[in-house]
Amino acid sequence: MVRKKLHPLLEKPIAARQWTVGIERPTGLLDCITEDPEVLMDLANRPIISAQQFDRDHLRQLCRLAALYETTPALMHPPLVGKILISAFYEPSTRTRLSFESAWHRLGGDIMSITDPATTGIAKGESLSDVAEMFNNYGDVVVLRDTSEESPYQMLEALRIPIINAGNGVDEHPTQALADIYTIFKWRPELIGDHVAPEHKARIGIIGVPARMRTVRSLLIFLSTFSQAFDEVVVIGDTDEMFLEGQREALEARGLNIRTARSLDGLLPTFDVIYINSIAWVGDSYEKLGAHLRLDRDSPLKEGAIIMHPLARGEELSTDLDDTPHNWYFAQARGAVFVRMALLTSITQRIHRVMDAPDA
Ligand code: CP
Repeated sequence: MVRKKLHPLLEKPIAARQWTVGIERPTGLLDCITEDPEVLMDLANRPIISAQQFDRDHLRQLCRLAALYETTPALMHPPLVGKILISAFYEPSTRTRLSFESAWHRLGGDIMSITDPATTGIAKGESLSDVAEMFNNYGDVVVLRDTSEESPYQMLEALRIPIINAGNGVDEHPTQALADIYTIFKWRPELIGDHVAPEHKARIGIIGVPARMRTVRSLLIFLSTFSQAFDEVVVIGDTDEMFLEGQREALEARGLNIRTARSLDGLLPTFDVIYINSIAWVGDSYEKLGAHLRLDRDSPLKEGAIIMHPLARGEELSTDLDDTPHNWYFAQARGAVFVRMALLTSITQRIHRVMDAPDA
């Protein structure tokens, strides 16, 4: 078909379009964190299932290396040449699978990707444990997304190569939380320090249900790891069952100040960071929670406040915010590549190829 008129999007080069905010900021993290490769070498060969496995130093060094990668467009000596990733996604994904695969490619490795368990022996009743035994022969790292909380643990019993949890049912999504805190620390690098002056602490609003949402669960664990940086975290959801038994108490015991609310009334102008998420996994499908808790250009956001959104966007986040300075959700998705590069370099014992560190 010949169009009468050229489509307006074809009139200028792609690069001339507005880029996401936040990408110019990683240098702030490089300036305020002293490089310590030994901290990252401690992650070598570790399975990564829960955000609880990381301490403050791990997160600082991962963010620093991520910032280094983000400011180094092309690596002279990609550290994962010769390594193979098995990318096994038994549940839909856009950003997690593609950012993991992009990260691995950028590090010079090769990938085998499974996007549908029905194309594997699972369709014929093969156990996850047997699948894991086969993975040992074919790759160097497994990234797994599955609908069941138990799946990464079932695989772990048979695996002799590291596994990374890319979302296990409602349980956790630790590498999404890595992308989340990397975004927050790029925005305000001073929050990553041990001592944050009271007037500089950030106030965070999380629209979501920690009892039901894996991204929220893992993020809250990281926020509690840096509880000195956050004045208060307000969790907003219209349910009486916001937390699992003991979940809130465990976060508070780590120093996080938590408040709950059922609506956004009067709260939005008080937040420095608003994290919005409305998807909760239920079995092999999902449901939308709190869909009436919405943000758009007319929402009374504080000047300088940033919005983060970890998942597929629905009606809760209007596209009319995309070209405002509040939009850090695109930078969050972009940064996920670099923080995953940092994690993958660490667990494959290739830190010595990108830092001044001994060969493990
Ligand atoms: N963050 C996240 O889990 O998004 P995807 O479902 O697109 O991977």
